[in-house]
Amino acid sequence: MPMQEIINRRSIRSYRDEAVTEEQVEQILRAAMAAPSAGNQQPWEFVVVTDRALLVKISEVHPHAKMLLEAPAAILVCGDTNREKHADFWVQDCSAAVQNMLLEATHQALGSVWLGVYPRQDRVDGLKKLFNLPKSVIPFAVVALGYATNQPSPVDRYNPNYVHRNGW
Ligand SMILES: Cc1cc2nc3c(=O)[nH]c(=O)nc-3n(C[C@H](O)[C@H](O)[C@H](O)COP(=O)(O)O)c2cc1C
Repeated sequence: MPMQEIINRRSIRSYRDEAVTEEQVEQILRAAMAAPSAGNQQPWEFVVVTDRALLVKISEVHPHAKMLLEAPAAILVCGDTNREKHADFWVQDCSAAVQNMLLEATHQALGSVWLGVYPRQDRVDGLKKLFNLPKSVIPFAVVALGYATNQPSPVDRYNPNYVHRNGW
């Protein structure tokens, strides 16, 4: 079996009314910035959102983010295309950062869910406007954070049919 955090991480869409601490958020951001990136370009930027009115506004811009009506916090992960040394790899860099965040949240017994933003243009435009992002900064994903009302069971999705050895 893979490591516990990988197995236990599930998308959480229902949260208890309990705040996450500054220390928890900082650890999650530290995990994000520990991610690999193309040529170590680290194109990421993060907007920590704990303001309830803003969390509600994200859920109005994003069609699948209703859990933000109750989650105590969310982190908007963005990519700054001005910091790219290797064109177009910012998406993969930010993906690695998001996955690290989900795993660190799981490690801290926090629930989380990855809310996809880029490349859906309506979500990108809506969040750019809501957070007044600079032109070169593209909102990539929102990570909702908080304590789960209930913890879904781990799932084993291993499927040998998806594995090919030394060719297709
Ligand atoms: C790129 C991406 C975008 C996603 N967007 C959403 C989303 O908008 N809303 C949501 O509730 N879950 C979203 N998810 C979570 C997936 O639905 C979830 O990971 C998948 O159903 C597997 O379930 P698990 O995370 O519990 O293992 C997204 C996941 C990824 C990787």
